[in-house]
Amino acid sequence: MIPNKYEFSVPTKIIFGSGVIKEAGSKAKELNAKKILIVAGENVRKAGLTKDVETSLTAVGIPYVYFSEFVPNPRDYTCNKGYEFAKKEKVDTVIAVGGGSAMDTAKAIATLLTNGGDVLDWCGADLLKTDMAPLIAIPTTAGTGSEVTPFAVVTDSKTQTKLNILDMRVTPKYALVDPHVLLNLPPHIMAATGIDAMTHAVEAYTCTVANPHTDVYALYAIRLISSNLRQAVNNPDLESCTGMMLGSNTAGIAFGFADVAAVHCMAEALGGMYDMAHGVANAVLLPTVSNWNIPANTKKYADVAVALGLDTSRMSDNEAAHAGVAELEKLCRDVGIPKLKDLPAINTADFPALAAAAAENVSVNSNPRKVSADDFLKLFKKAYEGYDD
Ligand SMILES: [Fe+2]
Repeated sequence: MIPNKYEFSVPTKIIFGSGVIKEAGSKAKELNAKKILIVAGENVRKAGLTKDVETSLTAVGIPYVYFSEFVPNPRDYTCNKGYEFAKKEKVDTVIAVGGGSAMDTAKAIATLLTNGGDVLDWCGADLLKTDMAPLIAIPTTAGTGSEVTPFAVVTDSKTQTKLNILDMRVTPKYALVDPHVLLNLPPHIMAATGIDAMTHAVEAYTCTVANPHTDVYALYAIRLISSNLRQAVNNPDLESCTGMMLGSNTAGIAFGFADVAAVHCMAEALGGMYDMAHGVANAVLLPTVSNWNIPANTKKYADVAVALGLDTSRMSDNEAAHAGVAELEKLCRDVGIPKLKDLPAINTADFPALAAAAAENVSVNSNPRKVSADDFLKLFKKAYEGYDD
């Protein structure tokens, strides 16, 4: 259903193409940067993905320092530590090179550089006093879409819950989206991050706050990811990596300006408790939760099936929707995603606490089907037993 009124804009300037990572220096100069903090993990640095950034900054005479002391699912204390370091170094601009953890850590540090305080002060909706420090985001995985979203996900280390800074002021100034950087990504990371991007697109398209503009990005993202992920995992080439990088970025726009839904509510609960890869947490839940949601938005799940490349011309909407969910399950299997039951960290005794955490998530009302803590508990159990259409 088309809403009576909605707003849509993408504040981030997106520069897409092979080699655009080399423009980091010229873009930093445009932003009048005097000193840069590069937020990049050790693996990204060892893989040589920051070399072109360093060269381009040197070419325009802008000094830089690194912050690499963060881990997947960035903690509040890590963000605060990064801020103290950035303040001591008199940094005014931030460049993130990495996946969601690097970009979200960078957003948190950039927020603290101009707003001060503790990162947890800014977790919530529209709390920032002023714009964050300028940020150039360079994704090195095709998953998070954080280079264009107005969120930063931070884990509260005391409660082990994932919180969000939700504010249009945490959108990066520039996203340098370079498919070349995916060519040497390990296959299990390509798979997990790719299914995260797929989950963004499916949830954005079917959620209660979708609008026609986010729908366009979501359907295009589903098409791109479903037709390129297997190749990008098994035998990555520039074409499949281009498809995945565009798929991740367009899915990021879709969910960044619509929302995610119950899969992410549950995946973030898993990530907070077990510190597991976010993409895997989504993938083990996506088929079960989508299947449960079908009655609440059957036509849109039928559209998902078409975007996944299925011929649904002889199917009812309900049949098409179920075929689409089965195809999502097949895609997860084909790229080697394990099942919830096969994840060693999972303890079924934690399911009530996980369900309660999922019910507290900010995106819970965006799910197409009204979902309670009891429903989340049933869905965790159902996902554990195995998706069975
Ligand atoms: Fe996600």
